[in-house]
Formats: sequence, structure tokens, C-alpha cells
Amino acid sequence: MCGIIGYTGGKAAAKIIYEGLKRLEYRGYDSAGISVLCDSEIRTVKRLGRVSALGGFLGKMHGSTGIGHTRWATHGKPSDENAHPHNSGMFSIVHNGIIENYSQLKSEYLLGESFLSDTDSEVIVKLLNKFYDGDLPSSLARVCGLLRGSYALAVICAQFDGIAVAKRGSPVIIGYGENENFVASDLPALAGMCKNVAVLNDGDIALLTADGVAIFDENLQGVIREILPNPAKPADLELSGCPHYMLKEIREVPAAIERTCQAYAYVENSVKKALAGVDRVIITGCGTAYNSGLAAKRYIESFARIPAEAEIAGEFRYKNPVVTSRTAVIAVSQSGETADTVEAAELALSLGAKVIAVTNSPYSRLTRCADVVVPVEAGCEICVAATKSYSGQITALYMIARTLAGFSAQSSADRIAPFPALCAQTAEREDIDGLADMCARSYGTYFLGRDTDYAVAQEGSLKLKEVSYVPSEGYPAGELKHGTLALIDIRTVSVFIITRPDLAEKCSNAVEQVLSRKGKAAVITNVTEVAERFKDRAYVIEIPPCDEWLSPLVSSEVLQLLAYKTALLLDRDPDKPRNLAKSVTVE
Ligand code: F6R
Repeated sequence: MCGIIGYTGGKAAAKIIYEGLKRLEYRGYDSAGISVLCDSEIRTVKRLGRVSALGGFLGKMHGSTGIGHTRWATHGKPSDENAHPHNSGMFSIVHNGIIENYSQLKSEYLLGESFLSDTDSEVIVKLLNKFYDGDLPSSLARVCGLLRGSYALAVICAQFDGIAVAKRGSPVIIGYGENENFVASDLPALAGMCKNVAVLNDGDIALLTADGVAIFDENLQGVIREILPNPAKPADLELSGCPHYMLKEIREVPAAIERTCQAYAYVENSVKKALAGVDRVIITGCGTAYNSGLAAKRYIESFARIPAEAEIAGEFRYKNPVVTSRTAVIAVSQSGETADTVEAAELALSLGAKVIAVTNSPYSRLTRCADVVVPVEAGCEICVAATKSYSGQITALYMIARTLAGFSAQSSADRIAPFPALCAQTAEREDIDGLADMCARSYGTYFLGRDTDYAVAQEGSLKLKEVSYVPSEGYPAGELKHGTLALIDIRTVSVFIITRPDLAEKCSNAVEQVLSRKGKAAVITNVTEVAERFKDRAYVIEIPPCDEWLSPLVSSEVLQLLAYKTALLLDRDPDKPRNLAKSVTVE
């Protein structure tokens, strides 16, 4: 959340920064701004709204060093004034993170200063202006020493033709070009711009000029950070003929499953080693990643008969969890940067647990703290709502659960093998539109299922509410009669997922209970008797017969399409839902 980018080299900085900001817009899209250094003078433009609002100013922003920001508001409403960069004296800064002690810093060091914004970030630039002693790295280090919270900072100074960068908690990547260098929050921003990148450690300060990059640790000692290939490709950012990234990424579900499955073979032994002697497993994550953990809990308990819990990371880290050296914690995160998930993983490590990271982001903070990294090979996911990464997470978690139960990766891959084709067929379904129309008109939509179908119900509900804003909840089907039934009337839609033949009868009773209260019902099923039973009374979407444990790969894709189509009917932008941003790096 919040995207930052900086460029220093021989080209027009503003254009490069503008392009990078458009690519980073999924990290925040309430306002954006750019500062460039031109003849030892800083010029800034910032506007409420999307990055495109800056397009008309680029021609006037000359200079080959600059910084930019796309904002997801934390402190201060979205407005021109609160947009970054923030300036003071000869400095301009962009910030991703939260400065928790900003009011204390204001009263301690900045009394009498007038502030132009309501942000926590403006304090940083004011402090830098106050404490600058002619040496940028040491002045920045001094300011950073006063900050409590998280930050990725890029700074330009009228006296220095380059960029200073500082990091704690929030992600920052340095990009190495030829006679030019970059800084960005995330790899996609640098796709096609530079081949090599380095990831900064917490506490690091970097100085970028066109000629090179110098990195210092928090004691201002020069350090070397590993230079790695930039895996992001410009093609990852193309829409490939799709009107939205969400649809493009749903169509990439088959490839995500296939690649994740192949990649697992390389980590199978490390997973085996990490799980040896484990007597309890906790799967933790947020949002969609947590929902994939709900399915994983069922996999682990059913296959390996080892107690497993899915825990929301933001709860786990504050509840004094019971964790021993025989506990495995599986931390699931698309971005690998979600603050709650990374902190939960770090807490688990400190308590002696083995930590396995399941992530789509190879250089993320989560990968750097975990004992073992199981890659989700979904490729860049640009749409704020997770789709293909969820399918990749389910694939990886299924394979981990089977490893724990003693099955080989090859035997798991054999079971997964039919699913890329099944999911490719699902992506082309045209019979979801009618249900999308029902949901778009509904007063509330409920998703219900049992066991793994319940895990999918939770994810279906999250997807629908976040991209269409239709109020929605997911429930275990058995819970309907314990409260939720009070909500059911002719204006509501209840979507049942029924893929377990052994549970079909019980779930069908719940469908009957909804229909008897005049509620509208839909059934997503591969149980023939269920489809037959409800074909004239409910909206039935039949999915192909498949392995019951892996049916979430297909049923969740139907629900992803349902959310997408409902959003379009309601004229929402499915790629950039209101108030949301991808990669939640603050608490
Ligand atoms: C929902 C969604 C969010 C994320 C959550 C965790 O579609 O995308 O709920 O799943 O913010 O993000 P990661 O997986 O990056 O930790």
C-alpha cells in the first residue's frame, strides 16, 4: 500500500516515474504526485485522484532525477495537500508506511512549524530539513533514528543529483540500470527498466546516482546487498486483450496451478525436513490467504491426522499463541509483505516454531525470515483482488499437507494434473451471468458450504464484497439455522457450494430451508442428484466431476467470475475496488 518510485540517470525522470506509478497503482489510488530536480530546484506536482491526473504536467517537469508516489490514505483524507511528495526547504520526500510517533515528534522538535498536510509523513521532511548538516546519509539516519513505525522513504535534495533511500518495515527494491538507477516499492514497477535488483534490509540507507548505488547499514557502515535478477517482465503488465486484470488473472489460474505444482518438486525435501516431528500446524495469513488456510486445515487434518488451525495473522500475533518447537507455522501471503503475516511469522520463529512461507513474491520480507519457502508461481498479480494467487496457494498447501501425510510430490502432482484443463474450461463459462445478475440486485448474498466447501464459501464471499460492494457473508451451511436464517427473504441470494457427495444431503436440507423462506438460492455442485433436485427451483451451476479435495480450484474460480461479473453489472472497477490496496504493509 502506497507505491513509491524514484529514477536518477540521463533520461526524462518524470515520464519514467509516471509510467512506474501507473504500474504501482494497485498499491493505492487516491492521489499521486511527482517531484523532479531541475537545475538545483525541486518541482512538484501532486493531485487527488488516479495517477493519470498527473499526465498533463509531465511536459513541464524537466530533469533527470525524481521521485513519485501513489497513495492509499492512512493519516489525512485523500486530497491534493495530503498527496505525496511532501516538501520542506531543499527536500522532497515520498513515504510508504506509518509513523506512529508523528504527533510526539511534532511537539518535541517542530513546534512553531506550519504544516501543509494532515499526514504523518510531512513530519519526516520537516525533521530532515531541520537536522540536515550537509551530509545526506547521516542526516537521514539521524531522522530515521527518531521515527517509530514503518517506512520506505525516497528523498531528493536540491544540493544532490541523486536519491537517498531509507527502509524499515516497508518494502523497497533498488533497480540497477546502465548509467541510471531506480528505487521502487515493488518489482513490477521496474519490469523492462532494469535487469538486476537488490532488496534493502531494515535500517539500510542507500544513495543512488546515475553512476552507482552505495548502501549503508544503520551504523552507516558500507554494506553489500545481493544483486538478483529482476523476475518481472513487461508482458506481466499487459492486459493481453482482456478488459481488466481481474479477468486476465482468472484466465491465468491454470498456469498458476501448473507452475506451482512443478515448483514444489524443488522444495519437497526441505518441507519434509521442516515438518519432521511436528505435532501441530497453524496456518496463518490475512484475507484471501487466510481463506486458503481454511482449506489447508482440512487437508492437513484429513490427510495427516495432525491437529491444524487456521489463524488470522492479525489475531495470532496479539494473542500470546501456544507454539512449541514441534509446531509448524505456515505463513501464507501473496505479496509476502503483509505486515500482520510477516510479524506473525517472526513471532512464531521467536517461539521456536518451524516457519514455512507460502508466497508469490520471491524477494519479499516473508521469504527472508522463513525456514522454508514454498513458491506460489502465479506470476505478477495486478488486480487488487486475489484470484490466481489463491489457486496457487491452494495447490501449494495441498502439496504440503500431502507431504506431511507421507505422499510424494509426484503422487500429488498426478492428482492435480487434470485441474489446469478443468480450470481453463471454467474460465470460459458463460452460465454465470444470470447468477451475477441475481447478486447485483440482491440485498445481501450469502455463501454456504461444509468442510472444504465452507472454506471456498468464505473466499467467494470476500471476493464478491470487495469488488462489487454487495453485502456478503460466508457461513458453514450447518450454521444457517442458528441465526443467519433470520436474514433470508426474497431480496437475498444464498449461494451453496456442494461438492462432497457424503455431505450433499445435509447441505441440500439447508437449500430447502432457504427456499421455504422465499430466499433465492444458487447451487454450485458436481453431485448429479443435487443438480437434479434443484434444477427447477434454484440457479444451478454444474461443475465437472473431480477429486473432492481439489474441487475448490474449480468452485473458487466460478466464484471469482461471479464476483467479476457482478462488479461489472454494478459499474464497479474490479481491478481497483474503493478503499482497498494490494499488499497491506501497515497495521
Ligand atoms: C482479497 C485480497 C486480500 C489479501 C490480503 C492478504 O482479494 O487480496 O484479502 O488476500 O490483504 O494479502 P497477502 O496475500 O499479500 O498477504
